Amino acid sequence: MTAARREDEVMELARRRGFIWAAFEIYGGASGFFDYGPLGAALKRKIESLWREFYTLGEGFYEIETTTIGIRDVFDASGHLECFMDKMVECKKCHSLFRADHVGERCPDCGGEFSEPQDFNLMFKTRIGAVTSVGGKSEAYLRPETAQGMFVNFPRLLRFHRNKLPFGIIQIGRAYRNEISPRQGIIRLREFTLAEAEVFVLPHEKNKHPRFHEVEDVVMRLKPNYMDEEIEITVKEAVERKIIAHEYLGYHMARVQQFLEKIGIPVERLRFRQHEHDEMAHYAEDCWDAEFLSDRFGWVEIVGIADRGDYDLSAHSRKAKVDMSVPVVTGGEEAEGAREGNENLSVFPHVIEPSYGIDRIIYALLESSFYKEEVRGEVRRVLRFKRCVAPVEVAVLPLLNRKELVNKAKEVFQMIRSHGIFAEYDASGSIGRRYRRQDEIGTPYCVTIDYETLENDTVTIRDRDSMKQVRVSIAELPAKLRGDVESMFTFSR
Ligand code: ATP
Ligand code: GLY
Repeated sequence: MTAARREDEVMELARRRGFIWAAFEIYGGASGFFDYGPLGAALKRKIESLWREFYTLGEGFYEIETTTIGIRDVFDASGHLECFMDKMVECKKCHSLFRADHVGERCPDCGGEFSEPQDFNLMFKTRIGAVTSVGGKSEAYLRPETAQGMFVNFPRLLRFHRNKLPFGIIQIGRAYRNEISPRQGIIRLREFTLAEAEVFVLPHEKNKHPRFHEVEDVVMRLKPNYMDEEIEITVKEAVERKIIAHEYLGYHMARVQQFLEKIGIPVERLRFRQHEHDEMAHYAEDCWDAEFLSDRFGWVEIVGIADRGDYDLSAHSRKAKVDMSVPVVTGGEEAEGAREGNENLSVFPHVIEPSYGIDRIIYALLESSFYKEEVRGEVRRVLRFKRCVAPVEVAVLPLLNRKELVNKAKEVFQMIRSHGIFAEYDASGSIGRRYRRQDEIGTPYCVTIDYETLENDTVTIRDRDSMKQVRVSIAELPAKLRGDVESMFTFSR
């Protein structure tokens, strides 16, 4: 199967089964805008919950929620007004627009010649309230990243953390970028979901992460900007050899890899590529992209991990005239005394930022989970989701649409749900068709109610990947489904 056909097949499945739909479809759609249908929204919610847990429970970071519209001052200070640009070219013949770094010398649509590249600011501009006669203050922008909401709240966040560094803050939410020519489905959207962590740390403490030992043996595939080749190396060695600049960056890159693996992105399709110096965002001192090897699009950035240095806090301090520097002496309340004599020694905290594009991660999961095989002359399409992200965990199916089986199946269905397991009930069509539907939406287990159920209160559990079935009693079903169900099948995940 060619890469293009495979992608088409995955996206066709995603559309047909209610994962991802073109937005405003009845009006012909608009490029760069997609909606999540019932299963897509469930998949996305699960990924977001896992991400939230990973950083709140795992790292002890707090989550905040800030506005998606920002006033002009914020993006003036952050540099987005001046620098958040892509170069754009226009075809002189058909007038199509392209991002200059995405095309060659001639228009891919008609072969026409391009105009000189022009800067195009990617922020969506809006106005707050009615326009005054002098304009000015009402100007606002839809946020291109969630990060700024965390930076402008830094003084309050620092106080919340009792003046003690380091600390991390997370935020999940919508971001908006008026992409010049989005033609890659949910890879390039004009409205998308970012999940970002901002880790504030004193500059001289960046090379000593207190939990570095937990990740030091993680093996990563790296493509540093000064090497032509990729290398496989432990985080520890990469930091020791200064391939990765310091422990904080290495630690968070390793955590990114662990999270992506946890939700089911195959590690062999991941690498970390360091930005070239002329590619780096205006705020970044150093940046590594976690890239996914897509069948269709080649290497695609799914997470960016940047060392933003003190760029943002010093910029907002200047613009807002609010000093966000902190005394060099750390240690929170206990160090209050020690700080007193050192009032002049202050420094801006630095920021390490893993920035996850949730929609691109969903694309990567769909593509890498998609599996197709022929079974008895019929095509079986499967999304091999890990259970932790599967939108439907269990399907309950009466073998036949007969009253006595349907009644029993509904009873079992309610019982499973009452144990907190998200289940779907389906009685329409042949049992084979229903299994195929559940395979296509990635449901790991199907519970089938047949005539034997009515005799001895047992049901079968069918495993999506091996298609094997085992019989268990209804009484032990919830415990099995919650606990050791995987071990019941030879081909467990
Ligand atoms: P690209 O070079 O592909 O335009 P970027 O370098 O601008 O991306 P970042 O600014 O690093 O991307 O954004 C952080 C993350 O947000 C990316 O890793 C990506 O997953 C996601 N992202 C960025 N732009 C888009 C978009 N237009 N649609 C969907 N996700 C996006
Ligand atoms: N906050 C990361 C980015 O927008 O690139």
